Amino acid sequence: MQAKLRIRRYNPENDKKSWWGEYTLQNVLRTDSVLDLLHRVKWEQDGTLALRRSCAHGVCGSDAMRINGANALACKTLVSRLGVKNDTVKIQVEPILGMKVEKDLIVDMEPFFDHYRSVMPFFINEQPAPADGRERLQSPEDRERFDDTTKCILCAACTSSCPSFWADGRYVGPAAIVQAHRFVFDSRDEGAAERLEVLSDTFGVWKCRTIFNCTNACPRDIKVTEAIADVKMAITGGKV
Ligand code: SF4
Ligand code: F3S
Ligand code: FES
Repeated sequence: MQAKLRIRRYNPENDKKSWWGEYTLQNVLRTDSVLDLLHRVKWEQDGTLALRRSCAHGVCGSDAMRINGANALACKTLVSRLGVKNDTVKIQVEPILGMKVEKDLIVDMEPFFDHYRSVMPFFINEQPAPADGRERLQSPEDRERFDDTTKCILCAACTSSCPSFWADGRYVGPAAIVQAHRFVFDSRDEGAAERLEVLSDTFGVWKCRTIFNCTNACPRDIKVTEAIADVKMAITGGKV
């Protein structure tokens, strides 16, 4: 079968604005991923195509992009899921939205990581570790409380699909809230109050309008909107 790809291209050195590059590939398999096809475009047709990727197995989070209008990881999106008709699959690929495009499919992730850093995404506990050298203990129930949000790979598919973030990039965004959730609900951590203070400010959780794009976009199936609701409840003192 064949694939017809439309890829949004932009090279700041030559282009005043972005344009669509069109590429046809033959001998495509239904089990090929979009990343496989982008590699073929780059290696067989146009070596200047710029994209980020690393693991090719849905783990590193570097290849989130807009594929046929929805955010996804290119390495986890198979041709068979994109509607094959008459032995042809049509695929449109664009950079994720709401972030400055550096080149082709590569966006500037620094503002995203600034938001991430703002919630203190690390374990905070000033108490000395147990003297016998053992880890800080936690019950299975307490561990379960934040299990879902440990799965985040910081791909930004959620934040870059959120209309509230598109409207104002100062919104901390769902990915940072997911990261905060992972520590706020960890019974061993002592930094919850500080994190909740950051998230209760103007550009914190209240910018979320419960639109759910983030949950639909998450390649790790994290219940992102639910995690945000947990954090909102924790701020207002409601039962979580
Ligand atoms: Fe990616 Fe999901 Fe983490 Fe958002 S919550 S950054 S979509 S893994
Ligand atoms: Fe945005 Fe998700 Fe809230 S899409 S508005 S962060 S539920
Ligand atoms: Fe690592 Fe896709 S290349 S998640």
